[in-house]
Amino acid sequence: MKIQDIQNLSIKMGQEADFRGKEGVQKFLDNKKRDFQKLSLPEQEEFDKESLENPYLDSRIYNIVDPSDGGKEIKKVLVGIDIGPAEILMAKEIGNIDLIIAHHPIGKGLAQLADVMGLQCDVLNFYGVPINIAEGLMREKISEVARGVNSANHQRTVDAAKLLGFNLMNSHTPCDNLAARFLRNLIDPPADGKEIERVSDLIDILKEVPEYKEAIKIGVGPKIFVGNPQNRCGKIALSEITGGTEGSPKLYEKMAQAGIGTVVGMHVSEEHKKEAELAHINIVIAGHISSDSLGVNIFLDELCRQSRASSIESGEKQEIEIISCSGFTRVSRV
Ligand SMILES: [Fe+2]
Repeated sequence: MKIQDIQNLSIKMGQEADFRGKEGVQKFLDNKKRDFQKLSLPEQEEFDKESLENPYLDSRIYNIVDPSDGGKEIKKVLVGIDIGPAEILMAKEIGNIDLIIAHHPIGKGLAQLADVMGLQCDVLNFYGVPINIAEGLMREKISEVARGVNSANHQRTVDAAKLLGFNLMNSHTPCDNLAARFLRNLIDPPADGKEIERVSDLIDILKEVPEYKEAIKIGVGPKIFVGNPQNRCGKIALSEITGGTEGSPKLYEKMAQAGIGTVVGMHVSEEHKKEAELAHINIVIAGHISSDSLGVNIFLDELCRQSRASSIESGEKQEIEIISCSGFTRVSRV
């Protein structure tokens, strides 16, 4: 498999796990096409054409070494949650790394992080928050994030990869979609068919996930940030696992009105915590880097499965080797 095949797999899997469903994602892409067609020619020149095909602009390819024929065959991959110049240097030390995959966005993907945040409106709508309220409250937050990431030194890591000659890509929202879908399947309905009654029961279920078991060992296992173990969960929403970054704190009141009792998230700011307390919503933090690892693992499992199949076909019998770094915990489910 080559870098473009791996990027295509990431986007395809992200779409299949997307809470909007395939039709919702297609509608999102169709709107982009409509916007593009309305632009003047100079504006079309500036328009990011990738957005016509890729619904996750925070997840892309940043460097292809020797792009003739799509670059080299990928056999050894360095995967990390945050990839910076230090990890690029590490790749050089390790040797024979064909591709570096980051989870969190870098380069142009970071500059366009806000583009994926509209997904949160649909996720909230899925859990019963009226779409006009979700969109109204998220609009302000999305523009705040867009301004916030604007000042970053976006190309720092990309430049390092180019200087040292590494293929570089990232998969952010596709992997977060995979983690959200995994947790939704785990929680709703639960494996034994019984409702999850108390917040402590929810924590117990999360603690069975291997990535969270590993996180417990280093002190960052699933935790209750708002509420207490005896509280009843009510309706559980996976509204803070995917969609770029944290949404609007004003949403908690609306979520409570929509009947949501408990939110499972990756992380929560103090401002969000206070608003959730006021709205009497329990907040369970599954864990940030552990949840990131969960989504990346599901993606890599399929990558390994496909590379194994293609290596058997070509008679090479060599599947992709994964090396973890930067907080990523590899757990194989294949
Ligand atoms: Fe993350």
